[in-house]
Amino acid sequence: MRTLVIGTGGREHALARALAQDPAVTEVHAAPGNPGMAAVATLHDVDPMSGASVADLAVALGADLVVIGPEAPLVAGVADAVRERGIAVFGPSGAAAQLEGSKAFSKAVMAAAGVPTAGSRTCTTPAEVEAALDAFGAPYVVKDDALAAGKGVVVTRDRAEALAHAAACDRVVVEEFLDGPEVSVFAICDGSTAYALQPAQDFKRIFDGGRGPNTGGMGSYTPLTWAQPDLSEVVLERVVRPTLAEMAGRGTPFVGCLYVGLALTETGPRVIEFNVRFGDPDIQPVLAVLDTPLGELLAAAAEGRLADVPAPTFLDAAAVTVVLASAGYPESSSKGDVITGVDLADARDGVDVIHAGTALSGDDLVTAGGRVLAVRAVGPDVAAARAAAYAAADLVSFPGMQRRDDIAAEPLGVVEGASLR
Ligand SMILES: Nc1ncnc2c1ncn2[C@@H]1O[C@H](COP(=O)(O)OP(=O)(O)O)[C@@H](O)[C@H]1O
Ligand SMILES: [Mg+2]
Repeated sequence: MRTLVIGTGGREHALARALAQDPAVTEVHAAPGNPGMAAVATLHDVDPMSGASVADLAVALGADLVVIGPEAPLVAGVADAVRERGIAVFGPSGAAAQLEGSKAFSKAVMAAAGVPTAGSRTCTTPAEVEAALDAFGAPYVVKDDALAAGKGVVVTRDRAEALAHAAACDRVVVEEFLDGPEVSVFAICDGSTAYALQPAQDFKRIFDGGRGPNTGGMGSYTPLTWAQPDLSEVVLERVVRPTLAEMAGRGTPFVGCLYVGLALTETGPRVIEFNVRFGDPDIQPVLAVLDTPLGELLAAAAEGRLADVPAPTFLDAAAVTVVLASAGYPESSSKGDVITGVDLADARDGVDVIHAGTALSGDDLVTAGGRVLAVRAVGPDVAAARAAAYAAADLVSFPGMQRRDDIAAEPLGVVEGASLR
């Protein structure tokens, strides 16, 4: 099987590595890719937002499976352009990607499908926002309806801040505050059938103890030994299957990864949001312990024959990912700082260094984004994987490097966001 991964980040590097390990996968190509991916994939310089260019590349390569990593090309309909050329794609159509592209749309689908989620109102005027804030009370949750690269949501007790955020957006979803640990469940979907991957947790704040601003994610781990053992099954039953049925009924079946962000509340798991692709870095540890070959699983989903292949299985092991971010992140990022120690860290047993925002400058590996690298380690349990990840991360450095020292030290939820309660 010839595969093509679209994207440049840590998620795509982790996907390319996992695809390269599948004996059924003969070739891994990536576009545009990153310097780390060059070790496992052939890189091609293509604009990931251009459906025509991605489709042309897929045809030229004779690709059997295209995996589109990030949300922006999916929302822009890049999967449709590739599918129109008769090539299997793991990733939803532009219409189905509205589950992430519009928070109002995803809430409407959840309501129609009876999915447990926060009560919400979609608002376009200040008066509607005022009324919704009154109805739900503090802490206030105000979400930009549109894609906002992780910067669209404000959760605050400060009413003026909530109103100001709403005023800065065209349309917002104001919703009820959900209290409880936040977890990620990834469902592999073929339009009608779905399998869940093992749940993970993502540490979103920049500083230890859950302080500071939200980021794209500073680290993650799996499994969640503290969570209910049937969590994946419950999420498939109450969230994923009803959503797939609703999307199919609308004539826009969902094929790809439905990421379900959940709060585990006192009344059970409730959906915080849907994404239409793998979450990064939360997918990284999950792929490290996935026992099932990834290429065959994603191809079966892309070709609508998931029911014919077995459900994915996982190693009896744990994995932890620690993100190394550049100076200024998340407000800004720093480029061109020379990185050392990656090869040493990557050579350690059970450790991978995943590239997220790196570039080559002559012979030097340099920073090229906010999240630069992710050090991922596997071990017999979370504590062992965590120790291995930090021991390897200690070998890597670059000027201004930021990392959290408490990833996977304890389950997330009691600490992060505690100040809001
Ligand atoms: N209803 C809610 N109750 C409590 N916290 C929320 C709620 N909705 C979102 N959050 C917090 O805000 C973060 C971002 O919201 P989310 O809907 O995931 O948007 P995005 O990922 O697009 O920024 C979540 O990860 C969660 O920590
Ligand atoms: Mg989110």
